[in-house]
Amino acid sequence: METKIKTIKNGLKDAKRILYDGGLVAFPTETVYGLGANALDDDAVKSIFIAKGRPQDNPLIVHLSSKKEITKYVKSVNDLEKQIINTFMPGPITLVLEKNESISNVVTAGLNTVGIRIPENKVAHKFLKKVKLPVAAPSANTSKRPSPTNALDVFEDMNGKISLIIDGGSTDVGVESTVIRVVDSKILLLRPGKVNKQDLEEKIGCEVIDKTKLQKDEKPESPGMKYTHYAPKCDMVLVISNNGDIIKKLSNIYDDLIKKKRNPVILCSNSSSKLLNDKNIITLGNDSNEACSNLFSTLRIAEKEYDYIICEFVEGGTMEDAFYNRASKSSGGNIL
Ligand code: TXA
Ligand code: MG
Repeated sequence: METKIKTIKNGLKDAKRILYDGGLVAFPTETVYGLGANALDDDAVKSIFIAKGRPQDNPLIVHLSSKKEITKYVKSVNDLEKQIINTFMPGPITLVLEKNESISNVVTAGLNTVGIRIPENKVAHKFLKKVKLPVAAPSANTSKRPSPTNALDVFEDMNGKISLIIDGGSTDVGVESTVIRVVDSKILLLRPGKVNKQDLEEKIGCEVIDKTKLQKDEKPESPGMKYTHYAPKCDMVLVISNNGDIIKKLSNIYDDLIKKKRNPVILCSNSSSKLLNDKNIITLGNDSNEACSNLFSTLRIAEKEYDYIICEFVEGGTMEDAFYNRASKSSGGNIL
């Protein structure tokens, strides 16, 4: 299968036809690129799992063009959920609700709940509005790989497997949506993202329980939490300052790897990069928000040139939890 990359202007008609024919279309959102299928077509949804090599028990998010679509696919929306929808949607958030019979078990991997998301990205919105379908979409990467944040990164993983990628440039947020669920008038935070715990507490005014840092043996609320994720093709370590001298720590790890004849690179904040001399360096930005925006694309660049990624935990900004979550998983839990 030939994989074409098209702008929304040139590709929208094809995208609609492909979805109605049961095919897959990759499209941009403000978080990462999604790999979309008609959520009402079980065979099409099954082919997402095949294209990604995704475990069957990991449910998909359903993307909609507007808030008024939501009630078509869920049993009910309570006051707290309404408040969340009205405050944060469209935006980089997914709300898990009890599904109705129009959403099949293939989409939700057998769960009686469905993740609903309304992206605010203009291209995503145009695409969803035009196709007039609920679109089931995970991130458009091969399972376990860093999520794609531009059309070429989608192409790298999906070339030959899907026929169309809608190119909307680089995504803004760079990591996937915040996933939440309301249980007993409390918000469970299932995956950290741009909308953080404090945003939820301040704007919704209820307790937020962080379920993203699983205790040993605890069953994850969100099936996706238990898998290896976002891994580059080379070794990686996440380095945390712990109130110590981060520059010294990064340098020591780097020098040690050089002694072992490895070819390392340091991914770090702009300020750290100025203090690290004579080393291979790629900067991630000024704070956790910029670092999230650049993380996945940088991992895909670094893995092609180096054999060891030393990644600084970039502090500051509002996305420290999201950055820590993704970078620690990318490193396979190798944290110093
Ligand atoms: O930003 C995003 O959310 C992107 C874009 C394309 O929208 N999508 C995305 O999808 O990241 P995916 O499939 O890579 O991650 C979805 C996450 C998984 O961790 C999954 O387990 C969780 O959401 N999830 C989906 N439905 C759920 C449900 N009913 N209950 C609990 N967790 C759910
Ligand atoms: Mg994913």
